[in-house]
Amino acid sequence: MNTLWLPLLLSSVIWAEEQYFPQSRNATWDEGRLHCKSCFKELTTITSRNVHLIVQNLSSDYWVGLRKSYNDSIQRGEWPAWSNGDPVTYQNWYPGHPVPFPICSSTTQSPLSTPMTSTQASTVTSASVSSKNDTCPILSEMLLCLNMTCGDLESAMGMCKRTPTVTPKTTTYSTSFNAPTTGTTTESTSNCKPNPGQYIKDACVVLLSSGMWKEKDCNISLPFICYEERFFGQINISDVTTSAGNLSWAEGPGAENISHYREEVTGDKNQTFNQTKLFQYIENLTAGTLYKVQVFPVKCGRDLNPQNISFYTYPSDVQNLIVVSVTNVSANLKWSKPDGNHESYSVYVKYKSNKNVTERVQECQDEECTITALIPGTEYVFTVTAVVNKTIEGVPSNVSNYTIPSTVRNLRSADNDSTVIMAFWDPPTGNHSGYRYCLKEVNNSRECTYCNIASDSSITANNNITNSSDTTTVSIADCKTVDGTETFIKVTNKSDGSMFCLCVAALTKTNTLSGEMVTILAYTKPKTVTLFLNPSSQTIFANWTVEGKYEKFEVSITTDAYIYTDQFTTPNLNYSFKDLKAGVNYNVSVVTLNGKLRSNPANKSEFTRPAKPCGVKATTNKTTIQVSWEAPTESEGASIKYTVKCYTAFWEKSHEVQTPDRSISFTGLNPGTRYECNVSVVAGNLESFPETVHANTEPEKRTLVLTMLCSSQTALHCDKPETRNELFETVKKCSKTTSSLLQLYRNRIIMQ
Ligand SMILES: *[C@@H]1O[C@H](CO)[C@@H](O)[C@H](O)[C@H]1NC(C)=O
Ligand SMILES: *[C@@H]1O[C@H](CO)[C@@H](O)[C@H](O)[C@H]1NC(C)=O
Ligand SMILES: *[C@@H]1O[C@H](CO)[C@@H](O)[C@H](O)[C@H]1NC(C)=O
Ligand SMILES: *[C@@H]1O[C@H](CO)[C@@H](O)[C@H](O)[C@H]1NC(C)=O
Ligand SMILES: *[C@@H]1O[C@H](CO)[C@@H](O)[C@H](O)[C@H]1NC(C)=O
Ligand SMILES: *[C@@H]1O[C@H](CO)[C@@H](O)[C@H](O)[C@H]1NC(C)=O
Ligand SMILES: *[C@@H]1O[C@H](CO)[C@@H](O)[C@H](O)[C@H]1NC(C)=O
Ligand SMILES: *[C@@H]1O[C@H](CO)[C@@H](O)[C@H](O)[C@H]1NC(C)=O
Ligand SMILES: *[C@@H]1O[C@H](CO)[C@@H](O)[C@H](O)[C@H]1NC(C)=O
Ligand SMILES: *[C@@H]1O[C@H](CO)[C@@H](O)[C@H](O)[C@H]1NC(C)=O
Ligand SMILES: *[C@@H]1O[C@H](CO)[C@@H](O)[C@H](O)[C@H]1NC(C)=O
Ligand SMILES: *[C@@H]1O[C@H](CO)[C@@H](O)[C@H](O)[C@H]1NC(C)=O
Repeated sequence: MNTLWLPLLLSSVIWAEEQYFPQSRNATWDEGRLHCKSCFKELTTITSRNVHLIVQNLSSDYWVGLRKSYNDSIQRGEWPAWSNGDPVTYQNWYPGHPVPFPICSSTTQSPLSTPMTSTQASTVTSASVSSKNDTCPILSEMLLCLNMTCGDLESAMGMCKRTPTVTPKTTTYSTSFNAPTTGTTTESTSNCKPNPGQYIKDACVVLLSSGMWKEKDCNISLPFICYEERFFGQINISDVTTSAGNLSWAEGPGAENISHYREEVTGDKNQTFNQTKLFQYIENLTAGTLYKVQVFPVKCGRDLNPQNISFYTYPSDVQNLIVVSVTNVSANLKWSKPDGNHESYSVYVKYKSNKNVTERVQECQDEECTITALIPGTEYVFTVTAVVNKTIEGVPSNVSNYTIPSTVRNLRSADNDSTVIMAFWDPPTGNHSGYRYCLKEVNNSRECTYCNIASDSSITANNNITNSSDTTTVSIADCKTVDGTETFIKVTNKSDGSMFCLCVAALTKTNTLSGEMVTILAYTKPKTVTLFLNPSSQTIFANWTVEGKYEKFEVSITTDAYIYTDQFTTPNLNYSFKDLKAGVNYNVSVVTLNGKLRSNPANKSEFTRPAKPCGVKATTNKTTIQVSWEAPTESEGASIKYTVKCYTAFWEKSHEVQTPDRSISFTGLNPGTRYECNVSVVAGNLESFPETVHANTEPEKRTLVLTMLCSSQTALHCDKPETRNELFETVKKCSKTTSSLLQLYRNRIIMQ
């Protein structure tokens, strides 16, 4: 299948369209053929496919490209091929043509042949006489073909007499075969009449206006029909500029007879050239314009089928390209129309990021275009080209500019020092080369909303300056530029307790183009006072000094000893706290206020002077003293601490306890001993005067026999009660005063 299909397909593809050119001048067949070969391709061939095209509007007889025999080729029978070499696949002879070489010899054999001889003799004189075959030549050919003799035919004819009439066909065989059947011998005489043709030895085919063929002597002069295949050639345009182009094309067929090529350039201006070469430089064209070019090969004064091409000249460059305005994400471009024509514009948006060049394109219809979705603070190169036919771009024009940096983010200041301003921010989106900050001291009641830099020619600022009272105007002297890697500033030696407007903007274009300022309020704290406290029992006198600006002070006092806090403001540098409780620790705090600004607090704590407790009592048994007391009235309600000391001089022992309670027991004491107990209030490292109580532990009783020698002269004097009492008193006195006795007594106890 495949091998069968392929040749069929190929032949249909390469089939060329033929065009037919009837030539009205008279010429012999050879002359006609020569002319056709030089100005066309050949004398025409006739096939079933083209016959209807050729016979339209034929007005006379024409030579066509078929000859009985060619001088220049080996004769292989009659009508062997068309003059261009094609096989003869189609014939349409006029009835009785071509006149064959006479073949039927016996005139007496057939009644059919006799009248034919007579008719032939009437038109052609010498030819029929010389020829012994006087049979109708077609009949003889047919007889030969049918392998019949004239006699066979005759007998066959008798049988066929009753067969119905068959309509004449265009083929010569049926016509001549049919003719005798229609009539008698006299009618068959008239059958040979329309073919009075004489046999022609050098015969060429003539196309009749009816479309049928006859042969004629090749040397007679007749019009003729040439044909040529329609010419399709390559054409190319190269090196197109805004005003010119190089046109080149393929050679036409039969190039030696092509006198020249005519080029017709049509567009806004028409140009025509005659050119013998195969190329042409076309100039003086208008930019951005569609031109149609036709190149006609001219052959024998005749235009062959033209080769066509259309092309656009490149649009020329746009004029006066400028960046009208930029924001941080867009740029507005403007330009004027290019010379010549254009349909639209393309804008190429190019920027460098991390050494990589990124590019995108935007289409614009007018001479003004806003490019969006740009990155803030970035240098862009905008290239504008005029465009025709959607894709053909002209000469580019460039302009470059920076987008404005976006604002810094999250600007905040520390506000935690009295002489230093410290601020932080996050970098802006997009790119930046540095930052500029301005710091201006402002009135305490001021809001910082907008910053307006008075005049700075070195940096192009992009401030939205409104003339509202919120606008803070700063001078260049207040501003500084910092590196793009920094995101904080620290400015020292600022005055304390002051408010500042801090404005920060990102810069780009090597710090010459500023973004919009972000403004916040920053401040230094007022200085902290140096605080002195001077406490007494129920008052504290506080005074302080401060070396900075202040408006007033916020003073507060608190204590943990009981529920008590107080707070107030004063413009003075001292304050006396009254109605306090004795022996209590008080915290005093002073904050310097300047407008809304507060200093760090100065804190100090101090005990009021303690008062002594009252109502101290002691109860005892042998080894224990329980001391109890009441809080001093000056300290009533506050939790304070007491210290209790019990001392025995006899044993030289002392016991000491600190307690927040109001009673205490000392255990493990010596029985029968006198203790002196002191209770006092403790406040920090101060102690109140003590309140004293004496307590005796119960004695462990021992019997001491005291024998005395009464040496009175008076009898029974010693026995008198008065005398005894006197003695006891004396002993008592002694025991108190006479240490030796006591020492003795003590030593005995210890020895025990
Ligand atoms: C060609 O010849 C015919 C007859 O001889 C004549 O009528 C005709 O005008 C001629 N045509 C031309 C173009 O000479
Ligand atoms: C006459 O016809 C016969 C056959 O029919 C042929 O053999 C012969 O050559 C012919 N003569 C001439 C002069 O053509
Ligand atoms: C012609 O016919 C004869 C007899 O009728 C026969 O012998 C001969 O072979 C035939 N020739 C051809 C070519 O058919
Ligand atoms: C150019 O030629 C075309 C067709 O031949 C015509 O329609 C057009 O008007 C011409 N233009 C000029 C400017 O002559
Ligand atoms: C081109 O040649 C033709 C005839 O050969 C002539 O009529 C025409 O004026 C020529 N045109 C140019 C542009 O030379
Ligand atoms: C093109 O224009 C130039 C100057 O206007 C002129 O000299 C030249 O002849 C023109 N060329 C053509 C092909 O018209
Ligand atoms: C114009 O553009 C169309 C579509 O891209 C293309 O087919 C056509 O060849 C172009 N015309 C010219 C003259 O370049
Ligand atoms: C960038 O645009 C501004 C106007 O927005 C203009 O003043 C400046 O000259 C332009 N710079 C360049 C390099 O074109
Ligand atoms: C540049 O672009 C290429 C491909 O787009 C990418 O692989 C490379 O990481 C880029 N380089 C930088 C520095 O961004
Ligand atoms: C300027 O700021 C005002 C108030 O924030 C705003 O309404 C206005 O649109 C801004 N103008 C420009 C050009 O940014
Ligand atoms: C604070 O008061 C005390 C007396 O109460 C006085 O000695 C001292 O100088 C005062 N200090 C200041 C700074 O006023
Ligand atoms: C002494 O008194 C304390 C408390 O009052 C008591 O605990 C202790 O038992 C008493 N001692 C004697 C010996 O009574």
